[in-house]
Amino acid sequence: MTDLKKYTVAASGKMRKVAYDKLNSDVNLLAWQHSGRMPAEQFDEWLSKADALYSAANIKIDENLLNKAPRLKVIAQAAVGYDNIDVAACTARGIVVGHTPGVLDDAVADLAYGLIIDSARHLVRGSEHVHSGRWGEHKGLGLGCDLARKTLGIIGMGNIGSAIVPRARASKMRIIYHNRHRRADDGKLGAEYAGFEVLLEQADFIVITATLNPSTKGMFDAEAFKRMKKTAAIINVGRGAIVDTDALYDALATGEIAYAAFDVTDPEPLPGDHKLLTLDNITVTPHMASATVETRDAMALLTVENILAGLMDLPLPVQVPDQWVNA
Ligand code: GLV
Repeated sequence: MTDLKKYTVAASGKMRKVAYDKLNSDVNLLAWQHSGRMPAEQFDEWLSKADALYSAANIKIDENLLNKAPRLKVIAQAAVGYDNIDVAACTARGIVVGHTPGVLDDAVADLAYGLIIDSARHLVRGSEHVHSGRWGEHKGLGLGCDLARKTLGIIGMGNIGSAIVPRARASKMRIIYHNRHRRADDGKLGAEYAGFEVLLEQADFIVITATLNPSTKGMFDAEAFKRMKKTAAIINVGRGAIVDTDALYDALATGEIAYAAFDVTDPEPLPGDHKLLTLDNITVTPHMASATVETRDAMALLTVENILAGLMDLPLPVQVPDQWVNA
């Protein structure tokens, strides 16, 4: 039995209590559980001793950070996305990297579906009207549109995209999707494959669930918005940089598209005085698609399992796909 107490695990931010309690009893845990941000010097000092890092998607894990952490053998991120991590640099140093796909699919699909409904029915803007004493002016919002018989285009039909399908089918939507590769099970899934341009032209609502990588970065540019219907809405729960923010602003401001509802933005956090927020045809939520008690606990516990496996030189329950497998 490996004596895990000899290992030091540093956390990049505040941890869920379930994860803190488990790791704190098993290893030497260095975690900032106070309110407010951890001082950078504190984190650097912890990194210098850490055998494992419990990370979140809001820190950049690059050569600079890795140079401060010469002992690291495992990085486990409490997120499905890991575009903040230089996986090749980790691989070159023999550091195994884990993440948390699967456990957040329903929570993210719920939020995406909520944003689809908001785009159609102006829930957030309606509520803002009432909050600001403008109930009687609600007609200024204009009428919404039915989801039934509209076409939803999903960009990235992975676990989260697939979880959106039954929700949208409950609203009687037709569903098309675009992936790098057509899925063999799409008939069973209830979604039709479409080329990117066909999807842009046919969809009334487009939801992005794709990961950020060189082929999706900036995928939604001025050209893409021009191809979309003027009545279409775009929803993003993937990563902000899949959309060119300036092109999005122009498309919304000039009526090239009708609405946007984004849980992820570029930059992030989006400053309160950002030009996107001067528009009244966008809803922005603060990257909170997986933010439920059950899902954040499940992500935290899977992150702990990844860390403990990595420290014991066992295969991680979930290692990032583009890294060697530590069998
Ligand atoms: C959240 O964005 C995640 O990648 O889990």
